[in-house]
Formats: sequence, structure tokens, C-alpha cells
Amino acid sequence: MDSKKILVIGAAGQIGSELTLKLREFFGKDNVIASDIKDGSEELMFSGPFEIADATDKDLIEEIITKHQITDVYLMAAMLSATAEKIPMKAWHLNMESLFIILNLAKDQKVNRVFWPSSIAVFGPTTPKEDTPQTTVMEPSTVYGISKQTGERWCEYYFNKYGVDVRSLRYPGIISYKTLPGGGTTDYAIEIFHEAIKNKKYSSFLSEKTGLPMMFMDDAIKATVDIMEAPSENIKVRSSYNLAAMTFTPEELANQIKTQIPEFEISYEPDFRQSIADSWPSSIDDSEARKDWGWEHEYDLSKLTSTMIEGLKN
Ligand SMILES: NC(=O)c1ccc[n+]([C@@H]2O[C@H](COP(=O)([O-])OP(=O)(O)OC[C@H]3O[C@@H](n4cnc5c(N)ncnc54)[C@H](O)[C@@H]3O)[C@@H](O)[C@H]2O)c1
Repeated sequence: MDSKKILVIGAAGQIGSELTLKLREFFGKDNVIASDIKDGSEELMFSGPFEIADATDKDLIEEIITKHQITDVYLMAAMLSATAEKIPMKAWHLNMESLFIILNLAKDQKVNRVFWPSSIAVFGPTTPKEDTPQTTVMEPSTVYGISKQTGERWCEYYFNKYGVDVRSLRYPGIISYKTLPGGGTTDYAIEIFHEAIKNKKYSSFLSEKTGLPMMFMDDAIKATVDIMEAPSENIKVRSSYNLAAMTFTPEELANQIKTQIPEFEISYEPDFRQSIADSWPSSIDDSEARKDWGWEHEYDLSKLTSTMIEGLKN
């Protein structure tokens, strides 16, 4: 553990910022280097080393890895689903190029272990919607989903062909109050809390019955650190693991918020993100993650709601 040196790329983002702080707590602040194309929060910038870098700049990423003698990389930089639909070629370039740079550095033994997040967006309209199995039909219909599915194939290929120790999770929608979301289709489930507290009303860009798999940030971070710290032989899936905690619709979330903010009102104005949501599963079978490396979630809808409201009020 002493010799572990971690680089988090995309550390200023929604997940990267909380992940970096947690890793600094576990492994020591000087052993976790944060990196992003932009500055992060004050807490992130002043709690340990930070490097400005473009994740698609191979030479600079290699220089940072050599300079800090990095052993483990968490590659969190990506363009998310809703933003990627507006600039598909840019999204493809960022999501694929950043992954190839890290996989190739790992292949050349410049890093030992890689975490790369996939997403429920790898599934598409032809995938079974309920309890979506680990292995199933995958015909993603968004550029983001196509990039994640392709990334999964390459991760497995680099493991099989070159022995690269890459580990991955198919995150559901991640909900947090410390950092704002980065342009995904599940962002409504964060915005709704901000608006419920500020204005007591929210207009949802997804329709009332749209059920999607979701997870509180603390659970997502726990899963990420757990899979990275698990013994290599326990990681049987080298593409990406299904990962789940809860499923709810905007209507169910609004009803839960009303138990704490009774005046809260929700209305529905679905936009282009509705068709993205409609192409995704509503619930996920993550039994392989639970069996292989002991995944367990802690937050359900009720605990998530009270934690979000309390966190935002403070
Ligand atoms: N948030 C979710 O609900 C969710 C769900 C499924 C998967 N994921 C995946 O998790 C990862 C992190 O997601 P997030 O929500 O934190 O995203 P985010 O958009 O909040 O953060 C991404 C970070 O990457 C940085 N970045 C963008 N381009 C860069 C570049 N060229 N070089 C370096 N950094 C760059 C951004 O500045 C940002 O800080 C992504 O791979 C995403 O696809 C997220």
C-alpha cells in the first residue's frame, strides 16, 4: 500500500472530485495526484498535488505518470451522454483517445492498474429492460453508449492480450450534492433536490414514469475503491461489471421528496433526453459484482433523499 501512487484524470468532475478526496483520505494526500483540463474546487486544489492536463495529450500524460511514479490510474475524464449527442465526434475523440493512452501506458508497464468507468448507456433499446443481465444484447443508440461499449471491448482485449490489469464498472446515474452533474441524462435526479429546496418546484426533463437505475455517490465511490483494491483473481469480468443500488421514476422521487418538503410540486416537460432514457434499462442485475468481489450498496431511495436534502441545506 505504501508504494501506491494514484493519478485521477478528470478529478474536477462530479465523481472525480469526491473520489480524489476519498482516495487521499485512504492513501495519503501526497500519494493521490489530481488532474483535469480545468481547475477544481478549492478543497480539491489545496488537499494535495494537482496537474492541469488534457487527457488526450499522450506526451503530457506520460510525463505526469513518470514524474510522479504513478502506479494506479483512475480515468474519469469523458464527455457524458446528453452533451455528447450535441458534439458526437468530439465525444468519440475524448472518450476513446483518453482510454487508449492509458491502456497503452499500462501495456508498456508504465502503470500497474487502471480504473475506467463504463455506464448503463452501453445498453440500448433491444436490451431486456428489467433486471438487465451482465451479458446480454447490447446495441447502444447514443454516441456516449457506443464509446462506452467500445471501451469495454478494448479493456477486455488489453487484459486478455497484454495482461493489462484494468477494472471497470457500469455506473448507473450517480447522485450527489457536493458537485454539480456533468451533462448526463440522469442529471434531473440532482437538479430536483436543488430546486425543491430553493423554489419548492421542479420541471422534469424526463416523464413521470421513466424508471432508471441510480446510486448515491458514496456507494459509487465505495464500489470504485473496492473493485480496485480487490485481489486480481476475484475480478472475473474484464469488460465492465453491472452495478446497481436502486431504481426510481421522477414521480417516485418527487413523492419521496414530498415526505420531507410537503409543498414541493413537480411538472413534466420531456426534452431530447427522454429518448436517451427510454433506450436504457430500468433495473440492473449486478449479482456478479456481489459474488465476485463482495459489492453491497448502502443507500436506498429514502436514505438518499434525506441525505441529499440535509447535505444541500447545510
Ligand atoms: N455521473 C454519472 O452519473 C455517470 C454515470 C455513468 C458513468 N459515468 C462516467 O464516470 C466518469 C466521470 O463522470 P462525471 O459525472 O464525474 O463527469 P463530469 O463531466 O462531471 O467530469 C468529467 C471531468 O473530465 C474533465 N475533462 C473533460 N475533458 C477533459 C480532457 N480533455 N482532459 C482532461 N480532463 C477533461 C472535465 O473538466 C470534468 O472535470 C465518466 O467516464 C462518465 O462517463 C458517470
